[in-house]
Amino acid sequence: MKTLDQIAEEIRAHKGCGFEPCETCTNEVPGEGNSNADIMLIGEGPGKNEDLQGRPFVGAAGKLLDELIESIGLKREDVFIGNVVKARPPGNRDPKPEEIAHSWPWLRNQVAAIKPQVIVLLGRHAMDLFLPDLRISAVHGQAKRYRGQVYYPVYHPAAALYNGSLRQTLLDDFAKLPKVLEKAKALPETEVAIEPVGPAAELLTKKSPAKEPVAAASAQTAKSTTEPQQKPLF
Ligand code: URA
Repeated sequence: MKTLDQIAEEIRAHKGCGFEPCETCTNEVPGEGNSNADIMLIGEGPGKNEDLQGRPFVGAAGKLLDELIESIGLKREDVFIGNVVKARPPGNRDPKPEEIAHSWPWLRNQVAAIKPQVIVLLGRHAMDLFLPDLRISAVHGQAKRYRGQVYYPVYHPAAALYNGSLRQTLLDDFAKLPKVLEKAKALPETEVAIEPVGPAAELLTKKSPAKEPVAAASAQTAKSTTEPQQKPLF
């Protein structure tokens, strides 16, 4: 299995794929933090400041994320912070499904290297990649267990920069995170399957026909587990 450092090196050295974000970015942004983190936070993708510095969440949204992490007695170095896509989509546009699919193997390898107890999904782009058919407005602050992994969807910190009332919502949701972590640690161990869902997952399936039977099987799992995972885990 690749180490976090090896994955980061691979991402930074990456070029020539033809995808617009990778071709136009100043720096790829692999993510950073504790390789033994209990909590991994996944955002959407680098913005302007992140692109310039090659580090995740260092702009205005990052300042709020730091406050949220500190509000529960942790520091940035205690957690791992990453993104769905590793290069800035030009003009901060939404990442396209094919760009999300392109970045997926790195993100999957990062999750596999860290084995976090809880993955905090920052906003809908991260949520839609890991949890099918949910709305962030309905499920923020509710822990979900899906294919063995505990997820905790919350609003993206940038949303609170535009809508001030979401700041308190984020603080309230983060306040529940230590309890979620405690309960996640107490769950009986089961096998964890980190597989993408949504449009990016469909592209990945199309691109690698050899994997089709597995993908088809997991699509069925996704369907059959949609119902229970609508309910809060704890
Ligand atoms: N927004 C994100 O989703 N990720 C970052 O790294 C910065 C802002």
